[in-house]
Amino acid sequence: MTAPRPDGARRYPYRHLLGIEGLSPDEIHFLLDRSESYVEQNRRADKKGNSLRGRTIINLFFENSTRTRTSFELAGKRLGGDVINMSVSTSSIKKGETLIDTAMTLNAMHPDVLVVRHSDSGAVRLLAEKVNCAVINGGDGSHEHPTQALLDALTIRRRRGRLDGLTVAICGDIAHSRVARSNIHLLTTMGTRVRVVAPPTLLPAQIERFGVEAFTDMRRGLAGCDIIMMLRLQTERMKGSFVPSIREYFHFFGLDRDKLAAAKPDALIMHPGPMNRGTEIDSEVADDIDRSLIQEQVEMGVAVRMACLEVLAENLPDPSLRNAP
Ligand code: NCD
Repeated sequence: MTAPRPDGARRYPYRHLLGIEGLSPDEIHFLLDRSESYVEQNRRADKKGNSLRGRTIINLFFENSTRTRTSFELAGKRLGGDVINMSVSTSSIKKGETLIDTAMTLNAMHPDVLVVRHSDSGAVRLLAEKVNCAVINGGDGSHEHPTQALLDALTIRRRRGRLDGLTVAICGDIAHSRVARSNIHLLTTMGTRVRVVAPPTLLPAQIERFGVEAFTDMRRGLAGCDIIMMLRLQTERMKGSFVPSIREYFHFFGLDRDKLAAAKPDALIMHPGPMNRGTEIDSEVADDIDRSLIQEQVEMGVAVRMACLEVLAENLPDPSLRNAP
């Protein structure tokens, strides 16, 4: 028998999880509440559940990943599912097979959930249209990374007890970051005040249209903030150079004790990883156990991915489900 869930009448009425854009506050709370129920299970000696027994999950990663791929694998296994990891270097994609051909081949093996990461924005949605199973976006180009935003929200909600009324500053390479985009959608939907802080070259044009306040000065942007989210420079998505030098970037935009002092005295620090110490963040603040939530984010990542896999598996097969988002 399954234990009663704290998520009541709320539900997630979609087949896929391709992005945060378009989700309602109730749908987001539903996923967070379900994730919450796994945090304790993951701290026990026996972490095994069985709600995904008989289900097959394929991790299809066209881009490098440490945290995301490992946590999806752990999440699937902890719920009793069969998990297969496909990385590009060992597949036929290297031999010229297209994204869609690969998807169709995998689809023929009847997986229940495909977790896909790809360097092109929109590639995961395209693939989702061709397969019968559920698809989770594990990050597509600079577009969305929905499970990252959910794990960030779960981390904040557990620490602060809520999301609304807080002020969160997202700092660094906003222009190329799918983490920034998914977090902006999620936090603004939940009533959080969001600021973005970056050099003008790394701020997308008209970013204010997303309901955020933009700053090009760290101390001004961090003033009075509850949460500071630092981002890596996504050099793999840059054509040419967007910052004069790493030294100068760190001087103006790297989070250190001095800039941190501009935020609230109890402000908390987050980073999705991988971190570049000395570029966007100083080790002294990254490793500060009283202020840094970076390890907790990784822990919450497993719980969130268990919830997402389970919810999508429960929804299959249900012909009445809508395809978006
Ligand atoms: C992020 C990603 O891949 O978008 N990392 C992650 O999923 N933990 C952020 C990044 O690569 O900088």
